[in-house]
Amino acid sequence: MKTLILAGGSGTRLFPLSREHYPKQFIPLVDDESLFQKTVRRSLLFSSPQDIAIVTNTEHRFLVRDQLAAIGCDCRVLVEPVGRNTLPAIYYGVREVAEDGAGTVAVLPSDHLITATAPFHEAFRRAERLAKDYLVVFGVRPTSPHTGYGYIRPGEPLADGSVVDAFVEKPDLPTAERYVADGYLWNSGMFCFDAALFLAECETCAPEVVRAFEHPVEEAYAATPALSIDYGIMEKTRRAVVVPLEADWNDVGNFDALYAALQKNGNGNAVRGEHIGIDSSENLILADRLIATVGVHNLAIVETKDAILIADRDEAQRVGEIAKALRERG
Ligand code: GDD
Ligand code: MG
Repeated sequence: MKTLILAGGSGTRLFPLSREHYPKQFIPLVDDESLFQKTVRRSLLFSSPQDIAIVTNTEHRFLVRDQLAAIGCDCRVLVEPVGRNTLPAIYYGVREVAEDGAGTVAVLPSDHLITATAPFHEAFRRAERLAKDYLVVFGVRPTSPHTGYGYIRPGEPLADGSVVDAFVEKPDLPTAERYVADGYLWNSGMFCFDAALFLAECETCAPEVVRAFEHPVEEAYAATPALSIDYGIMEKTRRAVVVPLEADWNDVGNFDALYAALQKNGNGNAVRGEHIGIDSSENLILADRLIATVGVHNLAIVETKDAILIADRDEAQRVGEIAKALRERG
């Protein structure tokens, strides 16, 4: 199987750890390896190094190469002249990796934390069996009405999954609440399909992207609209199936999600660094210096060389507003 790893996005909700020039997929968040490196390791379970390609942008290509070298994986790096969201990245990547425009391709985001246990392997085996005839998406059971995800309504059951009755990208909160109550699944952001089927679905659902890529890469990127695979293909196609993913899945979208992924001590504090806590519980503390707290609970305290963030963990999603404030400040 070929694997495409998407590594061109920028996260803003993990400030000050992640910045535009150092997005979250490249940070060693939970241990010494970045989420990107962990994704490459996971894809080596299904693909050999020569069958893996990374799609990234000009700014991060050296970082990508360094991180690949550090884990000894010599795979292809495809560089986009500009970011146009995930559909152009996947379209470009699929055309590059698929021999004669066919064969199974897995598409993996690089910014997730997944434990590759038996259920993960099982989901991929199912997906490979379905990929010839369908666009396979991996569905995760929701734990909240999160509005940053795609929602999938599973329909008619098949041997290895279910037909997708509806796919709705990033609904508003009341809609997401209804979907959770109605048994929808979250889109994990991972896909698996036959290249020929994917390219044909692009022709049907997003012909403007296909037309743009009739030109050489530089011109293609200048011409293509910015579009995600979720809005561009998954909401429109009639060929989607969902395979449930029962493995631990965390998109580490904010500090609250990171807190959930880290080990906690007896007071429920997740600490990387040194911490003295007097009557302090359930805090996330990431710092190089000694951090001492008294009577604080449920905070995210994150220190880097040039900034300190102190946030209520329940408001962690709003850390994204800092990037905007910084831009306005100039
Ligand atoms: N090469 C490249 N170029 N990669 C990109 C680009 C781009 O222009 N834009 C984003 N990516 C990469 C990101 O680095 C990430 O690994 C992946 O593509 C997904 O992009 P995000 O920007 O993180 O998407 P999202 O989190 O808003 O939504 C997607 O993921 C959710 C699950 O985490 C959607 O697929 C949702 O439906 C899904 O629920
Ligand atoms: Mg994401």
